[in-house]
Formats: sequence, C-alpha cells, structure tokens
Amino acid sequence: MKDAKEYTLYNETVMDHFMNPRNMGDFQDADGIGEVGAAACGDIMKISLKIKDGVVTDARFKTFGCGSAIASSSMATELIKGRTLEEVKNFSNEEVVEALGGLPPVKIHCSVLAEEALKAAIEDYEAREVSKPAEKSEALSA
Ligand code: FES
Repeated sequence: MKDAKEYTLYNETVMDHFMNPRNMGDFQDADGIGEVGAAACGDIMKISLKIKDGVVTDARFKTFGCGSAIASSSMATELIKGRTLEEVKNFSNEEVVEALGGLPPVKIHCSVLAEEALKAAIEDYEAREVSKPAEKSEALSA
C-alpha cells in the first residue's frame, strides 16, 4: 500500500508544517487580529499577534483551508516573530514560499492569504493604537 506522501505534490517541509502546524490557536488578549478569505476557494485564515514596543513578540493562527494554507500560516507565524511592524508590513508571501521550499503553482495563492492576514493584523493593531490616546492621557494625568 502506498504511503500518503507518495501521492502528494508537496515537499517534506510543507508536509511537516501541515501535519505538525506551529503556533496554531489564538490569544485571549491579542494586540492585532487579521482575518482574510480567498474568494476563489472560500478558505479563511486568521492571524493573531502579540506586539510590544513595535515588535511582534508572538503569533498564532487559525486556518480553515487547504494544506498549503495551513502550512503557509504555520511558517508565516514562525518567520515574523521578533520582527518590527515595518518589517511585517513589507512581508511577502514569496518569503513563505521560499521558506517552505516551494509550493505547486496552483497553490501559491494560499501563501498570499498569510501575507494578507499578517498585514490585516498590523492594520488592526494600528487602528486600536489610534483609539487609545484618551486612555494614555488619562493614565498620565492620574
Ligand atoms: Fe484555498 Fe489554498 S486552496 S487557500
């Protein structure tokens, strides 16, 4: 009987991140949350970030989607820990594809979801920060 690996288009790194995803889940007290969907396939990816002093200190994901999307979100959350907000804003899905050792051409869009979810999480963080000044000034005057 054939092993599942013999049927797959995916390399070992992709299979590893699909079978043993890193950073799966979310945070009760996330600083930024990005949730995006792929119109073509209906898959959904949510990435939650912990951010301190302009640096991503931790990341989690929940992905309702294909194996490539799960592997991409697993790898993306690994890659961005310790990066500044500016670095994450410039993050590209190509970095995920490269770190995974490649994805089949029809699956590249799955890695784009990871880039979009990360950028949406940073936007969410920045929107929350903009709405905080009142709290900060209250704390300063207390
Ligand atoms: Fe939809 Fe991969 S097929 S994200």
